[in-house]
Amino acid sequence: MKVLSLKTENYRNLAAKEYTPGGGVNIVCGENGLGKTNLIESIWLFTGCRSFRSIRDKDVVRFGCDEAKLQMEFFSGSRNKEAEIRIDDKRHITLNGVALASGRKMMGEFTAVVFTPLHLSIVKEGPEERRKFLDIALSQLRPNYAKTILEYNKALAQRNATLRAARENPSMAAMLDIWDIELAKKGAVIIESRMNYLEQIKDKACAAYDEISSGKESLELKYKEYARESANGRKDIARSILRALQEKRESDTERCITSVGAHREDFSIDLSGKSARLFGSQGQQRSAALSLKLAEADIITQVTGEEPVVLLDDVFSELDPQRQKYVVSHFTNRQVFITCCDEENISRIADLDVTVERLEGQVN
Ligand SMILES: Nc1ncnc2c1ncn2[C@@H]1O[C@H](COP(=O)(O)OP(=O)(O)OP(=O)(O)O)[C@@H](O)[C@H]1O
Ligand SMILES: [Mg+2]
Repeated sequence: MKVLSLKTENYRNLAAKEYTPGGGVNIVCGENGLGKTNLIESIWLFTGCRSFRSIRDKDVVRFGCDEAKLQMEFFSGSRNKEAEIRIDDKRHITLNGVALASGRKMMGEFTAVVFTPLHLSIVKEGPEERRKFLDIALSQLRPNYAKTILEYNKALAQRNATLRAARENPSMAAMLDIWDIELAKKGAVIIESRMNYLEQIKDKACAAYDEISSGKESLELKYKEYARESANGRKDIARSILRALQEKRESDTERCITSVGAHREDFSIDLSGKSARLFGSQGQQRSAALSLKLAEADIITQVTGEEPVVLLDDVFSELDPQRQKYVVSHFTNRQVFITCCDEENISRIADLDVTVERLEGQVN
């Protein structure tokens, strides 16, 4: 997978940018506020996933404009392809001139792994961020997974609405059976996929961490099961979620929330036996999040047979020179984009052939 060219029109501060990157390591440098993260974000949108920095599509439209447009030529599945994303209130995507029904249809066509300072939340914040990490990674591998997540969230919203209704009118409680079954069925698919994915990613992430830290600490990942005591396979998981939902029905009705299920699970990230969230240093937390991302890229290659594009925004802060060197030298076959403010920094640590793109101009 390689980006061959990118054109932006009224995309955030990138009013009209044409960019032809190299096939290996690309350094995007420039002062604060010139649009480095915006450039990374614009490439990421071609995965079909949403922006990692905005909830609303239209936030990426340049202030004062009605729409933004991105055009990208890329190499995928042994041929060149082109895609266009037009954004007004919503995203409109075409692939090789054919309009796609939704962003989901683009998933798997162009694959990338992105790491930005925001992704430190995988290690630093609560369970939601870790579930999001697993769900985005799985969606790129299996677009149907993204659909299952949507259906699960709809069923969850319906169960919560029914809980509110049942608190006022107990006869409504019978309606909960339908949503319990749906949440158990869809939740089992989600949980089984997440557990299998974590099992797959574990060894690769631990090996990456070992190299980044030169063996100073060890990384351990473990899926935490809240809804179940033990489970083997999807049917067992579904049965155990259903039982848990029924056991919690009374207290859930009082609080009008669904307290068990796929939307409550988590995995732990430990460094040498201690929680990385509670006890890790900034650099250690960054190394742990980065290891997960590098492992995510390895899994994409393993499953699809194609190297994903790697987008690393501001990855060097807080890493010592040895850790920085590992990051740059890690990529041999992949196209990588690394943003930084200080170009000198890169030349000091890289013996690789890099293509440099300097962003210039004025901050908006
Ligand atoms: N919708 C928008 N329209 C116009 N400008 C925008 C829009 N959204 C964000 N910007 C501007 O884009 C600029 C560049 O942002 P970006 O985060 O890409 O900078 P950066 O080069 O990554 O900076 P840093 O080195 O600080 O990370 C910011 O000044 C921001 O105000
Ligand atoms: Mg930035």
